[in-house]
Amino acid sequence: MATGRVKVGIIGSQFEADIHAASFQIMPEEAEVVAVASPTAGHAQELATRYRIPRVFSDYREMLKESDIEMVTITAPNSLHKQMTCDIARAGKHVVCEKPLCMTLEEADEMIDVCRQQGVLLMYAEELFFTPKYVKAKEMADQGAFGKVHLIKQSEKHFGPHAAWFWDVERSGGGVWMDMGCHGIAFCYWFLGRPKVESVYCQMGTYVHKDKTIGDDETIGIIEFANGAVGMVENSWAKRGGMDDRIEVYGDQGVSYGNLHMGNALPTYSERGYGYAVEKAPSTSGWSYPVFDELWNYGFPHEMRHFARCVRGKETSQATGEDGRVVLEIICAGYASAGQGSKIALPYRPAGLRKPIDGWRGVGQAK
Ligand SMILES: NC(=O)c1ccc[n+]([C@@H]2O[C@H](COP(=O)([O-])OP(=O)(O)OC[C@H]3O[C@@H](n4cnc5c(N)ncnc54)[C@H](O)[C@@H]3O)[C@@H](O)[C@H]2O)c1
Repeated sequence: MATGRVKVGIIGSQFEADIHAASFQIMPEEAEVVAVASPTAGHAQELATRYRIPRVFSDYREMLKESDIEMVTITAPNSLHKQMTCDIARAGKHVVCEKPLCMTLEEADEMIDVCRQQGVLLMYAEELFFTPKYVKAKEMADQGAFGKVHLIKQSEKHFGPHAAWFWDVERSGGGVWMDMGCHGIAFCYWFLGRPKVESVYCQMGTYVHKDKTIGDDETIGIIEFANGAVGMVENSWAKRGGMDDRIEVYGDQGVSYGNLHMGNALPTYSERGYGYAVEKAPSTSGWSYPVFDELWNYGFPHEMRHFARCVRGKETSQATGEDGRVVLEIICAGYASAGQGSKIALPYRPAGLRKPIDGWRGVGQAK
């Protein structure tokens, strides 16, 4: 096995690619980013210049020919995750795939199979498994602080994504249930110790962004687990004022509330405004809640460090392709539930579905 820092290539050069590049530099001892690949002229070079990444490619397949690269992270639109994962694995490199894992359960199975056959790790980039505040809540739960946990909630809300492809369900696979519900679903599943999932019920609609998308922009999902606990996942692309991310844990012996940003913010009033407050906050004048160490508080550096340590065999992956597949199955069941107006039992394997949201909208049909 190779030694020294793991050499990393990043596919993509925009929002999440910047987070990956920054995260590897915040915790630099396990890995270094040596290459970036992105098709838009100039974008890859801009990221490379910002983070002093030596090699730049416009075609990621060319980057995969670099023999010293051991791990590649995918920060491209969801519809490309499957093909990229299989290409990376067949080049003999470990894969870090951003959430949501891919578009269909068939794709998920193929990604898991190909990585297994090629003997490489498929790691699922769900940072909430590494978010320091939420990890603390899970540690307390595992120590019995709350007794038997029967209800757990996670919600993530803002006013909608930054790039056009998210709004195009052919490229994203769905609306906010797919884009941000995947975090809450993964969180509940992970927090409760990965119990079997029994059913999913979802209520959703497109309330504010009908001009932009047929994707859902407000969603409530209820997940029943075989251990008797219930997960409630609430998401919005229609909530003004920047990112809001929180959890609640209820057991027969206690309760805990976590607000990812607020405990780490400086409540601030400014007549003139200033540079940056928090992800997707539209303005910094008037009242705002600027965060510090934003990536650290999310756990992105911890996540990337963990993945590099997995590649070196120092740790066992805590966020796998199988986790991503479970989340995707719940996403599909949630859309079907909203379409049928009833609870969907798991296992759920819709035949011939091209993308999760079709379970709700029908193929390309707006309701
Ligand atoms: N974990 C999180 O909290 C989080 C946050 C944001 C995005 N994401 C995920 O990261 C992924 C990317 O999202 P984003 O916000 O960075 O999107 P973005 O639009 O900001 O960037 C997408 C990047 O993909 C590149 N790309 C497009 N087609 C490509 C191709 N054929 N080959 C190589 N690169 C290609 C684009 O050039 C661009 O650099 C998505 O799967 C998204 O769900 C995760």
